[in-house]
Amino acid sequence: MDNRPIGFFDSGIGGLTSIPYIMRKLPLEQIIFFGDTARTPYGSKSVETIRQFTMQIGEFLKKKDVKMMVIACNTISSTCLDDLRRAYPKIPIISAISPTARVIAESCAPEDHIGIIATKATVRSGVYERKIREKNHRLDKLYARECPAFVPLIEEGIIDNEIMDLTIHYYLDDFVEDNQIDTLVLGCTHYPLIRENLRRIYPGLRIVSSSKEAATAVQIELEKHDLLADRRNADNVFYASDLSENFVNMIQRILGKDQDELNIRFKNLDL
Ligand code: DGL
Repeated sequence: MDNRPIGFFDSGIGGLTSIPYIMRKLPLEQIIFFGDTARTPYGSKSVETIRQFTMQIGEFLKKKDVKMMVIACNTISSTCLDDLRRAYPKIPIISAISPTARVIAESCAPEDHIGIIATKATVRSGVYERKIREKNHRLDKLYARECPAFVPLIEEGIIDNEIMDLTIHYYLDDFVEDNQIDTLVLGCTHYPLIRENLRRIYPGLRIVSSSKEAATAVQIELEKHDLLADRRNADNVFYASDLSENFVNMIQRILGKDQDELNIRFKNLDL
């Protein structure tokens, strides 16, 4: 049993899409979230820059005495997981990718055509393909597509309109058709916010979300290490490096609460 908070983080608002699962399944857990909204997106930046930003976030969460770090970001998971684990060997660190790859490996058949959509950094790392094959070498119909414009549009709240739909068509029509995709992995925690667009445009696709799988892994790991909370010490806190109107709107949309019900704070890491 451990009543310290869990630290979630992302380059921006995407990682928030894991939080409703935790709130529902583990209501006694206190969450500290950090979104680097001032410097998002990470996915098209160099690995060196992503690493520098990530280690600043790691230090911030360590100072908050978190019992677990959750990289609610595929881009950071694909580039900096080892760096974080080396820097914080005593803190369990959950990646967004391994739990998702495990679900694919365990639930897909060799004839399935699996499409992975993600940021440039995640796709270019090849981590998804590697992890899925490590866990199930019979899955060889794996296709990845980088969709770098999705995150900036989502951060801007451009979701329920034709600009987003056109962008989806632009990136994915040929990808889905040419590769006969039947399973689509949302390899970016921002993408659950366009899940309904994807469902409408490509009905019949099975969609697997890294946000949900990361949250499920949190529960499993807390149980395994006997780290579940048995009482609530404090409220959840949502830090962002830029408290823009968009951030506030999106956090309300994702968590379904008004601003005054949420503990939202500014934190500048770049000091
Ligand atoms: N949510 C992040 C991910 O899962 C978005 C990355 C970005 O900032 O480009 O990859």
